[in-house]
Formats: sequence, C-alpha cells, structure tokens
Amino acid sequence: MSAAGDRVEVRAPGRVNLIGDHTDYTGGLALPIAIDRQIVVRGVDTDEPVITLTSDQDSTQASVRLPAAGITDIDPPWARRVAAVAAELGRENGFDGSVESTVPIGAGLSSSGALGVALALALGADADLSRLEVALLCQRAQQAATGVPAGILDEMASLHGLDGHAVLLDCHDLTVEPVPLPEGAEIVVKYISHRTVAGSPYSDRVAACHAAEEVIGPLRLAGMEDLSPLSDRVLLSRARHVVTENERVRQCVEGLSSGDLKTAGQLMTASHISLRDDYEVSTPELDAAVETLLSTPGVYGARLTGAGFGGCVIALAEPGAVTDAWVVRAVDGAEVVSGGSNYYRAP
Ligand code: GLA
Repeated sequence: MSAAGDRVEVRAPGRVNLIGDHTDYTGGLALPIAIDRQIVVRGVDTDEPVITLTSDQDSTQASVRLPAAGITDIDPPWARRVAAVAAELGRENGFDGSVESTVPIGAGLSSSGALGVALALALGADADLSRLEVALLCQRAQQAATGVPAGILDEMASLHGLDGHAVLLDCHDLTVEPVPLPEGAEIVVKYISHRTVAGSPYSDRVAACHAAEEVIGPLRLAGMEDLSPLSDRVLLSRARHVVTENERVRQCVEGLSSGDLKTAGQLMTASHISLRDDYEVSTPELDAAVETLLSTPGVYGARLTGAGFGGCVIALAEPGAVTDAWVVRAVDGAEVVSGGSNYYRAP
C-alpha cells in the first residue's frame, strides 16, 4: 500500500502506427512502435482526498476530488482523464504531482493514450496489475473521459513497445508479438495538422463497422469473398478497408521480417489509399503530404498514421532520404522509473 510521502516517477511513450489503422475496435491487427517522445508524471502520495497535477501543456491544473465522480463535467478537459483513471483504480488517497510531455498534442501520436498510461502507472504504482490489465483499464478510462468508443491500440503500443521493434497487436486475443525493424531503413514523421478524435467522425466509423458485422459477422474473420451481402455502399467500403488492412498488416510483418522494404513500403502506401478512399478518414493536406513523400527518392512507402482527419503522415525510407521530417526511434514501453512496485509482471 502506498503511504503519504511516497514518491513515484513514471514514463509512457506516444506511438506511431506503421500499418493497421481502424482495425483495433473490430479485433483486428495493428503494427505500432512506441516512439522516443513521452509523457513523464512525477508526484507524491498525500493524505488529502484530492489529486492535484500541473501540466507543461496546459496552464490550468487538474484538481480532482476523490472518489472521482461526474467525470465528463470536470474542467479542464484533461482532468477528466485523471478522474477516469483514478475512478478505474478505485483510488482514494491523494496525489500531488506534475505532467511533462514531449508528445505533440492532437497530432495523432497518441498523446492522450500516453497520458492515460502514465497516469495509471503513477496513480496505481502499487496496484498488482499486468500490462494488459493496465491497457484495458486505460481504454475504459479513455472511453469514460471522452465518450469516444476508441480501441486499444494506443494503450497497448505505449505499454508494450520494444526498443528497435514494432509490435504486432492482435486486438481480439490481445497478444503482442515483437517484429524487429530492419537495418537500412528509418521511419520519419511529418506533422500536418491538429485534430482531436473527440468531435471527429471516429464514432461513426466504429458504428459502421458494427453495422457491417451485424450482416456478415466478425470483420476480423472475414475475407473479400464474405463482403457481398453488404448492399449498402458505405458499409461495404468501410468493411473492405478493415478486411484488406488486416491482410496488409500480415504481409507487412512478413516484408519487414525478411528485409523486403519495397514490399513493406508498398503496403503502407496501399493502406493510405484504403484509408483515403474506402474509410474516408484522410484530408487533402494528408494526401498531398503523402504524395510529396512518395515522389522523394529513397521513400519506400508513406501513409497517414492513427485515426486520420488530420495529424501526421509517416514514411518508411532509406536513412537520410527525407530531410524535412522527424526520424522516430522505436523505444521500450511505459515504465515506473522510480518508486512503486509490481509493474514488471508479464502480460
Ligand atoms: C485512434 C484510436 C485507436 C485506433 C486509431 C486508428 O488512435 O484511439 O484506438 O482506433 O485511432 O487506428
């Protein structure tokens, strides 16, 4: 049990999804890396039944009275995540601390997912939870704080990242398989525009997938031959994206594992086209940035990453090929840096 005066410091990375977007909430496949941009939470347990946190990203501090309730009415909005995580943990004793972030906000690199994970590790540093349990807890907290029925990709990526590796996530059985990143290629990220998933058509896409599943059964098990009963054009194209994207993830893992960067890149580009045309979550700015990357010598493939509607584009490229973008490194997942206990149980 934690006691007043106990200190903790945790870190949780953001993520870039190499391929496999809008597949997680139907139990599909995704291939993210945890990136070398992170959220750090430091603080101390207190006797007062209140969590107080400052943030270097928001001048308004979060002050959440415990036990946390009325989550969606709390201001500032980032404090809702604090309250939702505290409620999931059943936290009753207070905490006084700070949040520092190098993950750009609203860029599709999962600043919110990383914040949730960092908060869960900091506020639950003595809870006896596996990484998978933390991911599920954070997903529930995310949904309670925002009302958006998001999948589990962001939390799993932040918790299960591995230095030098992508991680193949199966979002149905919640298994994680490390995929070494090949030598001779780098992953670059270009920021295009700010967006938030809350208020975007994300929920509409989730609903469309579930409507398609009512007709043809689980999309994660479907092949192209199973789509013909979908008479609604929109449901058909949403389902086609999911089915083809799951297959692209499988093939991309093979390409990366065998060092076939050309194939891996082509699959990433095909993923962008599917997200643009079938899933309709791209924007003209994201499309233009992808085109520019694809016309750059040494680029194997490019795509939007994350939910879309704005955010970032990424490319798989020869080292040094793209000069006006940020090269990301794949790093280890979230950890308790000091204080607390128990966070190294296997998933
Ligand atoms: C957001 C959600 C994730 C996932 C991606 C799209 O990041 O939080 O759960 O659905 O969009 O792949």
